[in-house]
Amino acid sequence: MSKRSDWAEEDSRTFIDLGEIVVPSRAEQARLICDLIPASAEEHFMGVDIACGEGKLSRAILERYPNAQMTLLDGSETMLTRAAENLGEFAYQIDLRLFDLFSEEWLDELPRRHRVIVSSLAIHHLDDDGKRRLYKRLAGHLAPGGVLIIADLVHQASDIVANAWANEWDRDVREQSLATTGTLEAFKQFQDGWNHYRTPDYEFDKPSRLTDQLDWLSEAGLTGVDCYWLRAGHAVFGGYREL
Ligand SMILES: C[S@@+](CC[C@H](N)C(=O)[O-])C[C@H]1O[C@@H](n2cnc3c(N)ncnc32)[C@H](O)[C@@H]1O
Repeated sequence: MSKRSDWAEEDSRTFIDLGEIVVPSRAEQARLICDLIPASAEEHFMGVDIACGEGKLSRAILERYPNAQMTLLDGSETMLTRAAENLGEFAYQIDLRLFDLFSEEWLDELPRRHRVIVSSLAIHHLDDDGKRRLYKRLAGHLAPGGVLIIADLVHQASDIVANAWANEWDRDVREQSLATTGTLEAFKQFQDGWNHYRTPDYEFDKPSRLTDQLDWLSEAGLTGVDCYWLRAGHAVFGGYREL
């Protein structure tokens, strides 16, 4: 589909340790994503979390929609083991599966009636063509009225924007490091090459322009396509399948 990323189990362990600190406003993002799901609190529906990591976003969805059934996909055993632990109380409502974002086989096996498909901080490993094709396929796996929501890094419009996002991301991580741990240790780790907008590694991270991605979602047939939130280059965007 596109060039492979080389995400390793060690990256999973680091992300488990630092994710709460290095992602801007994670709780706010999760709350908004839950608000965007077209369902009432008690409804039964199916959802997918693509590259679920340790399952924090799925957990937020299951807490808000206690009758949802979630399929959680990830390529890391470390992440899936951790997700199973974190979602123990929802054991009967989750299906954890190993998958490879760069293959198309998992899409062949995915049912076609999901009320929500989410993905946070992973699709940027695909190149432009990979994302465009993925959005087209995912649109076909939504139930009528369902929503595809992506939370991810997006490519800047100019160097000035990249610099502004880099500064904003640094400030957020500094604050979150102090607020979460009382020290700047995590912020120092983050400064060692984690700020994509300051030190990009385009072999590994291939964010696409937000405007292009919105076009690809519309092209895939979704409606209400928009960016619903954006901070420090992290956007929450998506669209709905018509009823
Ligand atoms: C930055 S973490 C984000 C995890 C989670 N979605 C979150 O927001 O907390 C990226 C996730 O993508 C997964 N990942 C990276 N490359 C992958 C691939 N080629 N196939 C499947 N999963 C992959 C990693 O295992 C990891 O869980």
